[in-house]
Formats: sequence, structure tokens, C-alpha cells
Amino acid sequence: MSRIAYVNGRYVPIATPAVAIEDRGYQFADGVYEVIRVVEGTIGALDRHLDRLERSLSELSIRPPMSRAALAAVIRETLRRNRLHRAIVYIQISRGIAPRNHLPPASGRASLVVTVRRAPFPDRRQHDEGCRVISLPDERWKRCDIKSIGLLPNLLARQKAREAGAREAWMLDDDGRITEGTSSNAYIIDRDGRLVTRPLGPRILGGITRSLLLELARKAGIEVIERPFTLEEARTAREAFLTSTTSLVLPVVQIDDCTIANGMPGTLTRRLQEAFETNQGLDVLYERQKP
Ligand code: PDD
Repeated sequence: MSRIAYVNGRYVPIATPAVAIEDRGYQFADGVYEVIRVVEGTIGALDRHLDRLERSLSELSIRPPMSRAALAAVIRETLRRNRLHRAIVYIQISRGIAPRNHLPPASGRASLVVTVRRAPFPDRRQHDEGCRVISLPDERWKRCDIKSIGLLPNLLARQKAREAGAREAWMLDDDGRITEGTSSNAYIIDRDGRLVTRPLGPRILGGITRSLLLELARKAGIEVIERPFTLEEARTAREAFLTSTTSLVLPVVQIDDCTIANGMPGTLTRRLQEAFETNQGLDVLYERQKP
């Protein structure tokens, strides 16, 4: 069965050429996106994702192409047409079609594309044994809080990570402090067992998994400190991990050539991983009502 995408009011096979050449997303990366996980038919943390999407759009002065309720209905219909219950949903909204000109048009209709794919099974080995990251200068723009489709620096950093045999790149600001990964947020557990992560601000994307994880951690009695941390602190941390919608909680056991602690995922990381991935954790994560 061919995958079906939603493109500006139509459901079409994913290979159909359906986006205009003069779509500003295609020409200028003038648009934003969201990635959402669907577990057993439940769209995870939908309200938080739609809040972030609306915020990204408003920062770019793009009018949402439809209401939240209509967008939720499109997501559900796209899932239904693709017969998926465990899925990753991709939503992309661009400023729409206009003759190519740097100046954004004063009016116009935003373009909306929704695609879904089967949720990848977590890489069991990485999940159990942890992954490696490399460190690199953060070469992105100064509004990383907007979930923009302009991702070239992220892609180049990710490519360097792969060339080095690593899973992710942790990026450094000019003061040597870690901002985040190319598509994930970064955390350490310090020597006193506190969870440390960079505070929200223009240098990082406010991850939805991040917001849920911090809530779970606080509920579990783990002390959370939101402050920037340096590469050196990360190298000498007790534990480290990353989070994202697609990876959930992934232990980090090596940064560049430096092994973290004993090279095994740490105890608190394990607890948080479990909280996310057991059914009970997913109930919290996806705000599901218990039957
Ligand atoms: N990436 N930071 C960046 C730069 C990201 O691109 C992402 C998500 C995150 C984590 O956010 P969340 O927990 O809401 O997924 C942090 C998505 C998954 C992607 O680009 O595919």
C-alpha cells in the first residue's frame, strides 16, 4: 500500500508531485514543522505540539492555514488512511506560494503538508548500551526556539557525527556550553545526582519530550536545575542522555573520545527511560485516561 500524504486539502500518494515550485518552503525554507509520536492510536501530547506549532508560526507572522481542531482531524484522517496506530506524524507549514521574492508577501495562504510513517522501533542496542555523541560549534541562527524547516547546519553537524561513528552532535555556544543536539535536547546528571539541562531560550528548541521529562523527573523527586552546562562538565558528569520525540530517552555514554562514568547508562537515566517507555509512563507522557 502506498503511503498517503495530506497536501493542501487533498490526500495523495506520497510520491505525487504535489508541492508548487514557488512554494516558499521549497524556495526559502520559509516555514515551520512539528514531529509528533502516535502510540496505540493516541496522538502524543497533541496540545503541546500544537501550542509550539502556533508559536513558531506566529514568530514568522504566518497565519495558520486551519484551526487546531481541523488540523487534528487531518492528522487523524492521514493516520486512518495509512492504517497506522504507532506512528510518527510530520506536519509542515510554509508561507505558501508566491512569485520568488525575498520580501515575504503581505497576504497569502499558508501551505500545509501532513505525512505519517510507522514509528521506528527503538534501536535496542543503543537504548540499552547508550550512544556516542561528538561536540561541535553551534553554527545555527539565533532563533533555535522556532521549529524552522531551515535545518542545514543541523544536517551538516549530523553528517559529521555519522562520519565519526556517533549518533548525535552536541553543539557548543561561544562560551563552550552545550546548547543541544541536532535533533534532540541534551542533559547531564551532575556529581550530586541533579538533572541539569539548558534553560529555554533562543539557543534551543523547547522539546516537548523535554517538558514532559522535566515534569516526570520532578514528580519522581529528582532535583532539576535548568542552567547551561559546559562540555567539560558533561565529560565529567555522572550520567548523560538526550531526548526527542523519535528517540525518547537515549543514554549518552561517550562524548568525543571521553567515556562518561563507567561507560554504561546511568541509574537515573534508566529510571527516566523506564518511566517513558513502560505503559504507566506512557500514560503520563500522553496524558491518557486510565480505563
Ligand atoms: N526534532 N532540538 C532540536 C533541534 C530538535 O530538532 C528536536 C526535535 C528536539 C526535541 O524536541 P521534541 O522532544 O519536541 O521532539 C530538540 C524532531 C524529532 C525532528 O526534527 O525530527
